[in-house]
Amino acid sequence: MNETNHSLVTEFVLLGLSSSQELQPFLFLIFSLLYLAILLGNFLIILTVTSDSCLHTHMYFLLANLSLIDICVASFATPQMLADFLVECKSISFEACLAQIFFVHLFAGGEMVLLVSMAYDHYVAICKPLHYTTIMSRRVCITLVLIPWCVGFIHTTSQLAVTVNLPFCGPNQVDSFFCDLPLVTKLACTDTYVISLLIVADSGLFSLSSFLLLVVSYTVILITVRNHSSSSTAKARSTLTAHITVVLLFFGPCIFSYVWPFSGYSVDKVLAVFYTIFTPILNPVIYTLSNKEMKAAMSKLKSHYLKSGPVSAVIRNVFFFLETK
Ligand SMILES: *[C@@H]1O[C@H](CO)[C@@H](O)[C@H](O)[C@H]1NC(C)=O
Repeated sequence: MNETNHSLVTEFVLLGLSSSQELQPFLFLIFSLLYLAILLGNFLIILTVTSDSCLHTHMYFLLANLSLIDICVASFATPQMLADFLVECKSISFEACLAQIFFVHLFAGGEMVLLVSMAYDHYVAICKPLHYTTIMSRRVCITLVLIPWCVGFIHTTSQLAVTVNLPFCGPNQVDSFFCDLPLVTKLACTDTYVISLLIVADSGLFSLSSFLLLVVSYTVILITVRNHSSSSTAKARSTLTAHITVVLLFFGPCIFSYVWPFSGYSVDKVLAVFYTIFTPILNPVIYTLSNKEMKAAMSKLKSHYLKSGPVSAVIRNVFFFLETK
């Protein structure tokens, strides 16, 4: 009887974003450009924040950390997806599949909690401005950066614990461009009803509760901003609008595909593109284009790099691209 517990499947086949062969080179081009833009934009933010001492404040440290997590979110599956556009059979080993499940929940979970950390920073800055420096000490800031990674790790380990021992013996086609948990558990040759419920409870409640936390903190902030009517509220409002946009675009798809995970799979695939590609690209665009300090620091960085070094041509083109936006 024990023998039946063996996993026979050693690799999964990813069906990818589209089954149309003619579309593959086109998709490869589009997504390569998007991925390149994600890497350049987010590295530029990290470089700007770390190299400019005017930006050595908690808000910008959190922003640079968000860029770091964005690079991670975009990198756990996208390179594989790009390579898969060029080959006929998009197979992935069992271990690599589990690794993708592990990383998507680590990074996406981490990003959710980091957005909550940033909302808390905003809340203290706007609602308790006089106590900001005492509340947001260096220690608190580092804690706000570390908690997302810890929570993400606990979250992903708990998800993987229920999946890793599932027996896989028959079908091995995953209808997406990376191994996502609901899609993979569906393939197990055992009754996965309870496990599916556990996944919904874990991922669904996790994203839903971080989302509600964000909604509550932004509501409080917006009410506070409305009652003050100074010139600084205009700036606060534009920062908040940018932040809320990111939150909605990131959480909307995540919550949708996990709270109703067994609805339509082709919808889930498109939603996955949202949080693995579009959110990481939106953060740099939204934060750099709506932020005067960030823009000023970037032009300083630009003039610094233009004076020296052979990389100047590349850097100049990146800035040109950002500024013509
Ligand atoms: C992340 O935040 C920490 C703590 O504030 C900071 O020291 C670090 O430089 C940040 N990371 C990046 C990549 O900016």
